[in-house]
Amino acid sequence: MTALTALPAWQDMLTAADRLADVDMRQAFQHDPERAARYSLSACGMLLDYSKNRIDDAALAALFELARATGVEEQRAAMFSGQRINATEDRAVLHTALRAPREAVVEHAGENVVPAVHAVLDRLSGFAQSVRNGEWRGFDGHAITDIVNIGIGGSDLGPFMVCEALKDYTAQHLRLHFVSTVDGWQLANVLAGLNPATTLFIVASKTFTTQETLTNARAARAWLVAAGGEDAVARHFVAVSTNTEAVCQFGIDPANMFGFWNWVGGRYSLWSAIGLPILLAIGDIHFRALLDGAHAMDRHFATAPLHGNMPVILAMLGVYYVNGMGAASHLISPYNQPLHRLPAYLQQLDMESNGKTVRLDGDAVDYQTGPIIWGEPGINAQHAYYQLLHQGSQLIPVDFIAALSNPRSSAEHQTILLANFLAQTEALMCGKDAATVRAELSAQGLDEAAIAALLPHKVFAGNRPTNTLLLDGLDPHTLGGLVAMYEHKVFVQGVVWGVNSYDQWGVELGKQLARAIEAELRGTAPAGRHDASTSRLIAHVRSALGT
Ligand code: F6P
Repeated sequence: MTALTALPAWQDMLTAADRLADVDMRQAFQHDPERAARYSLSACGMLLDYSKNRIDDAALAALFELARATGVEEQRAAMFSGQRINATEDRAVLHTALRAPREAVVEHAGENVVPAVHAVLDRLSGFAQSVRNGEWRGFDGHAITDIVNIGIGGSDLGPFMVCEALKDYTAQHLRLHFVSTVDGWQLANVLAGLNPATTLFIVASKTFTTQETLTNARAARAWLVAAGGEDAVARHFVAVSTNTEAVCQFGIDPANMFGFWNWVGGRYSLWSAIGLPILLAIGDIHFRALLDGAHAMDRHFATAPLHGNMPVILAMLGVYYVNGMGAASHLISPYNQPLHRLPAYLQQLDMESNGKTVRLDGDAVDYQTGPIIWGEPGINAQHAYYQLLHQGSQLIPVDFIAALSNPRSSAEHQTILLANFLAQTEALMCGKDAATVRAELSAQGLDEAAIAALLPHKVFAGNRPTNTLLLDGLDPHTLGGLVAMYEHKVFVQGVVWGVNSYDQWGVELGKQLARAIEAELRGTAPAGRHDASTSRLIAHVRSALGT
């Protein structure tokens, strides 16, 4: 037994899950007219209704006790106060300092980091403003029209997701492009539509060693230099990184570099200089509103009692389903189209953080940890994989997310969208029982034999758990709160599972092997020692490459 599974609070959670695995939520609502109100709360421009879960007061009490017993409150304080909770990398975890107001004090290694955060933010703002208002000129004197962010993982997913989500706030005269993959098809396609004289590249890489990013950046640089010469680089390339030396080596002037710090994890970095594409797209006022929204959620998370704390509630419900009821995945269903990259963003946030099987104390876990996060905009998903949610054999908890205000959508569209949004959570919970199906089929005039044959296929068991998140609007402030809420949810789950949510050693092995295989594919290294399958495949690829 690990320290976690030996806890009485863990056992209480499992007992509650056992007791409620087959609870009839419909009856729970009938018995308790206050259930929806009691299991709802509002914070930071969002209403969370978590009443459609297999819970009761005792189960929730067990979950909050588990959070307490695993030290969520202490770890939360440790994170906010800059302790090195990322122990395997010996780093603090201070993305919350990136959205702290100017007058706040956040100490790291005996120094208040907030002035440095705001100094970079002000510099970024000034630069973004000069690009947005056309003062910043390209090599032939024209203003910038296109911005290409070259980055991957946290240096792509966050900025891309937010730029898409806040399209309504975006400057019309600037086009944003995101290049992440080392499939050169992507860069080639983006560049094909661009004029080097009016294109600005942001090379975004925390480490500035990431192969995909540097390969794309080198190719983009060559494309620019071919048109504008070496001198053009200073007008068309900026870097965002923590690695000044590598930025200089690459050939970008440090004057064109915006820094951040190693206490900002890549997947937690959209609030830092990595957010430059967002700032360019939506401008200073809206970017600061995004930060303020995240800060408001930080305050909520830091101060609200566990039972009234949105990230804690969502996190503990997640633990309950993963460990108490065997859920292997968690679905994110945003109904607003601009949130179409939110599931992809949350995949990295959650799975790179909590996809671990070794505890911070070095022991292997003897329980499940981070679930598979997946999703697409919900309305499309209804016509694709919701069948499996309604009648499949897996238990899949879902977060339904929609904005109440949607000014660019007509009232007609918005009403239909929200009707579907609400209907799905109702259908998933209420299902449709055999008696109702029988009555419907009989009303259609089917005979007994036909009813008997069809009936089992038309029954919906229901009782499927969902969280409903209604945002006041899809504005920068609310979006900031939403994203920060998920960051904190992931944090709480990491604490409960005892893993370090802030390292990502699991991605390293593939990178190492790729370097070795790359040399073999080029024919510059002798055949390495591989398993028979990999050796054969390398030979096959080499013959296609002609090396
Ligand atoms: O390979 C995973 C990863 O290290 C992520 O954690 C990170 O967000 C991404 O690569 C990009 O890293 P960088 O910003 O250093 O290029």
